[in-house]
Amino acid sequence: MARLNLLEETRYEKLPVTVYNNQQDASLAVAARIAKLIKDKEAKGEKTVLGLATGVTPIGVYAELVRLHKEESLSFKNVITFNLEEYYPMQPNAAQSYVTFMNENLFNHVDIDKKNVHIPDGTLTQDDVAAFCLDYEQKITKLGGLDLQILGIGRTGHIGFNEPGSAPNSGTRLVTLDDLTRNDASRDFGGKQNVPTKAITMGVGTIFKAREIILMAWSQKKAPIVKKAVEGEISGEVPATYLQLSDHVEFVLDEAAASSLTRFNTPWLVKDCSWENGLKKKAVIWLADTLDKPILKLTEEDYNNHGMAQLAVEQGPVYNINIDIFTQSSVSFRRFNAAIITLKQTRWVPLGSAKSPAANTWWGFTFCNKSMVNCMSSSPTVFFLIFPVS
Ligand code: PGA
Repeated sequence: MARLNLLEETRYEKLPVTVYNNQQDASLAVAARIAKLIKDKEAKGEKTVLGLATGVTPIGVYAELVRLHKEESLSFKNVITFNLEEYYPMQPNAAQSYVTFMNENLFNHVDIDKKNVHIPDGTLTQDDVAAFCLDYEQKITKLGGLDLQILGIGRTGHIGFNEPGSAPNSGTRLVTLDDLTRNDASRDFGGKQNVPTKAITMGVGTIFKAREIILMAWSQKKAPIVKKAVEGEISGEVPATYLQLSDHVEFVLDEAAASSLTRFNTPWLVKDCSWENGLKKKAVIWLADTLDKPILKLTEEDYNNHGMAQLAVEQGPVYNINIDIFTQSSVSFRRFNAAIITLKQTRWVPLGSAKSPAANTWWGFTFCNKSMVNCMSSSPTVFFLIFPVS
């Protein structure tokens, strides 16, 4: 199992995660680590064997490595690289090939010996692929293994092109790309129909053998899959979860990619909070949603059992907190009586009832489901129908 985690705040996280303010800062930090590794090994007269990734994610790292080469004399003469993957089939000089990507973003701008560059060959015949893959693995092994592997993560949870269903001991091989992965690549290819259906990728097992693994993810788009990879159960459905088994992995994230992790999304579950109104509102609405209960029916026990005891103590009794958040939920509903009824079978919730000034009749309001209630503060215009309660 991975390193012990001694922090309560990150207790849901099953591998080490470092969060930077933005992807620029994170990219600089990763590039600095790579540069240090290269220099340290160079000082010992050793070569550095790097596992490299393609895609949008590592571009900032490569840009910084190029800068370090040009301005701070970082040399790549002693660097040997193995790329994670290449589309299949793919001509190396095609605009979308990972050979082109690596040349444009790194290799053409540094002093690496092109003989030391390895990228899976997208021009092979099907018959030659297996032997090529075996040779790729053997070359890495003969060089003493990868010192450092950098990774992005696909929205399927893939690392390299190890799509859902990949085995933890998989090696370099020909694989079929997931539909979502092809969707994500369609812009580069001018349409999904042009994206190859296959690729040659290093395996999960190949990656796993690297002495150090850094997975990077930026932007909100990656937040849901990052949460699964970091906090979810280990499963072939999300191949990145296999990294939880490594003792030498680190996830490097920007704030947006980290935003769904428990410590950021529902911090009251893992630490004491400063309960300003925005957080209080988020927590109470979350509690109602989690328990599938109307806000006004939340009890002290509900608060205590869901990490919100501190809020109850500081600002309780909970009845008052409930009323406070309920009234804030939508300005348009403030005046309504609090008689809330949950129609369990439909999840449609009458939001309240009010006395009609004209007819002296009580009315219920419906056609607002729970998620609409929860988002009312950000979108106060809600369409609903009214019906007589009695
Ligand atoms: P991206 O892709 O860097 O373009 O987001 C990452 C990946 O698919 O592994």
